Amino acid sequence: MKYYNSVLELVGRTPLVRLNRLARGLKPLILAKMESHNPGGSVKDRIGIAMIDRAERLGELKPGGTIIEATSGNTGIGLALACSIRGYRSIFVMTDKCSQEKVRYLKALGADVIVVPAAAKSDSPDHYVALARRIASETPNSILTNQYGNPANPEAHYNSTGPELWEATDGRITHFVAGMGTGGTISGTGRFLKEKNPAIHIIGADPYGSVFKTFKETGKIMGSSPYLVEGVGQDMIPENVHLKYIDEIINVTDRDSFNTARRLGREEGIFCGGSTGTNAWAALRLAERLTEDDVIVFIVCDTGERYLSKFLSDEWMKEKRLLGEERMTVGLLNEMKIRSGKPPLLFVSSETLIAETLDLMDRHSISQLPVIDEGRSVGSIREQHIMAQIIDDRDLLQQPVSSVMDLSFPVVNEAVEVNRAKSFLKEAPAILIEEYGRIIGLLTRYDVLDIS
Ligand SMILES: Cc1ncc(COP(=O)(O)O)c(C=O)c1O
Repeated sequence: MKYYNSVLELVGRTPLVRLNRLARGLKPLILAKMESHNPGGSVKDRIGIAMIDRAERLGELKPGGTIIEATSGNTGIGLALACSIRGYRSIFVMTDKCSQEKVRYLKALGADVIVVPAAAKSDSPDHYVALARRIASETPNSILTNQYGNPANPEAHYNSTGPELWEATDGRITHFVAGMGTGGTISGTGRFLKEKNPAIHIIGADPYGSVFKTFKETGKIMGSSPYLVEGVGQDMIPENVHLKYIDEIINVTDRDSFNTARRLGREEGIFCGGSTGTNAWAALRLAERLTEDDVIVFIVCDTGERYLSKFLSDEWMKEKRLLGEERMTVGLLNEMKIRSGKPPLLFVSSETLIAETLDLMDRHSISQLPVIDEGRSVGSIREQHIMAQIIDDRDLLQQPVSSVMDLSFPVVNEAVEVNRAKSFLKEAPAILIEEYGRIIGLLTRYDVLDIS
């Protein structure tokens, strides 16, 4: 019989997957280290057990004890998995920047979760790390695992992630790209790889707004500014960030992180979180200056499931003005138009009198109207055309629209990208948007003008 004694034995030994479509035109081999395959769905499962093992070994953790941690979610999940199997209680402090999915996931694993505002600075008592520290000092038989300074964090990567990469690439890895939250992944893996071959480049991928890049380059901590990617970047330098193992830090915008993560799902089937997009974007930019002999590995930090209500939702991306041009659909553009206060779809039926129709067009200052019967487009009214006929025959004003209407405007499905739909607007003055077989909106040339 072949089985595992608990899910903890499933942590690590994650596969490497080659990028194909995203890497088109680039010379190096680019590999994704699928940490999303861990049982808790992230790279942090490795440190969850490692920190508990260490506390047990040092006698800090006694039976029935409580684990407390400040976490962006994933470390909590790794710890909660180990706690549920080893019989410890767990309390996690998170910021309100973390997705609801992560909070619910932790609760589902039996943990208690406290959410604090992300706006609290690292020197304030309300900061999530400070609060975790306070709870630990007030809870009997508890330990604060402190992933930011706990040596078991980088050690877990030194003992597992590093050797796995060395072995799986037959020692051919030339560049390793990872984000930095606590620094554990990059410091531990970086140290192992540098010991094997000092020529291996270790590259940090860091959100714009985080302090790591400027600190590495100038030794100074500049003020941080907010960004939306979860789990990476800081406004201070944690003890577990060992800069001596990091050769270079590449800054990445929220837009590039999220859109690259979305492309990884769509084009490579790699369903991942935003910080994986940060890493992949840095790996792709790095690849532009490398050769066929280079092998780049980047970390897939976690799965996309915990971000379905955030950057994997078109509505959320649109609200944050981050949606890449390639995913701006006619349906979304129509929604934006309605939200900005423009009237919803104006139309007449084929039975409406022409006089009424002209009155409607005049009141709304529009020069064209769709003719819609029972949700379907049956024709169109174009001002110039209709006026030319009325000049000849005023009696037409009391006739139904069906007697003078033109052919329908082109109808496109709401999921069609605006850039594809634009070609219709070269011929027709407007396009109609259809959803589930019914017309839901209309876009004119003016509406698509701002979408490059
Ligand atoms: C989603 C996500 N990506 C990346 C990281 C960064 O890893 P590390 O803390 O090892 O630097 C974290 C850490 O919290 C994370 O939650």
